[in-house]
Amino acid sequence: MSCTRQFEEREPAMTDQRIDDYSAALDFAEQQVAAAIERHPDYFPIYTTDGKWFHQGELWTDWTGGFFSGMMWKFHERSGDPLWRERAEHYSRLLEHRQVDRNVHDLGFIFLNTYLPWFRLTGDEQLHQVLLTAGRTLAKRFIEKGQYLCSFIGLDSLFIDIMMNVPLIFYAANETGDEELRRVATAHCRTTRDRLVRPDGSTAHEGIFDLQTGRFVRQSTHQGLRADSAWARGLAWSMYGYSKCYGLTGMDEFLEVSQRNADYWLSRLPEDKIPYWDFDADLSQPLPWGPQKDSSAAAIAASGLLDLARQTKCRERSIAYHNTALVMLDILCGPQYLAVRDSGWEGILKHGVYHTKKNLGVDESVMWGEFFFVEALGKAVEER
Ligand code: GLY
Ligand code: GLY
Repeated sequence: MSCTRQFEEREPAMTDQRIDDYSAALDFAEQQVAAAIERHPDYFPIYTTDGKWFHQGELWTDWTGGFFSGMMWKFHERSGDPLWRERAEHYSRLLEHRQVDRNVHDLGFIFLNTYLPWFRLTGDEQLHQVLLTAGRTLAKRFIEKGQYLCSFIGLDSLFIDIMMNVPLIFYAANETGDEELRRVATAHCRTTRDRLVRPDGSTAHEGIFDLQTGRFVRQSTHQGLRADSAWARGLAWSMYGYSKCYGLTGMDEFLEVSQRNADYWLSRLPEDKIPYWDFDADLSQPLPWGPQKDSSAAAIAASGLLDLARQTKCRERSIAYHNTALVMLDILCGPQYLAVRDSGWEGILKHGVYHTKKNLGVDESVMWGEFFFVEALGKAVEER
């Protein structure tokens, strides 16, 4: 896509006010995570119910441990506090057995946010081996006939979410020179681009394939409104995932997809810059199907857009992506989203959504929203 669109330029980037607001939000995030550890040691929360992390609700799948531990690594990186490192190592170690987990497609979420920062800090070869094993395990989900990594739903199912996990395979390929891993990861990205990413940059959540022939059958969804709608978080996963894959491979075709996703994102954001759970939600419908926001999608997109703003070769795009990320973070740092004035609320960000149809974590805090909010704030503060 050539860079011919004119984007509006907003106010200058990191002001002193933003530094103060983002730093205060990070302080609050540290308090909330420390309190969650204190209340329920060795428990990995996924979403809150009425603002509480510990509950009996269905979990669908076990995919978010890397976000909770990942925040602990971010907090250690922020201040060098040895207590955060101790907690981060402990919680990461609790996830180590997942390196051979064949049941989920989420090994990137789990290991890139835990063992990767741990390995980068120490250079310990054993930690490196865990990352490589996890990458090889994820690659075993590859369906040769359809040329994709299958989702946890079944062999015939491709999820847009996997775009945020496939970077683990590229990482392992880069570290080992294993061209088979690179082939699988590249094919997955291309199939996802061709089957789930639409020409206008929106994305479907799921693709269904014929296992006998490998033929693509149809788009589908679990967490979005409809097969042909644009589930906000799925779009954020795609935008950030393709950006990460571009960062790991230098392949322009991945940058193009991420920019297409980002341009769609920018063009569909409502006035206050925080998306509804699905860009095609009918706002005249009652909640949760109507005007329910998803703060987690905004947090993921903000973090992805900060990276993409540096990667894009187009100045107008870079400014637009960067400014949009900061405006989204400004809103998330306000009392409508940040739970700082909500006594007893155990999460950091309110108004996230996990699974509308299953009524799981709707209008609650969700662990990936927490992690990507912390990640994005940290990136923005550091960029100054
Ligand atoms: N990746 C697991 C889930 O979609 O909840
Ligand atoms: N399916 C993973 C997610 O909720 O985004």
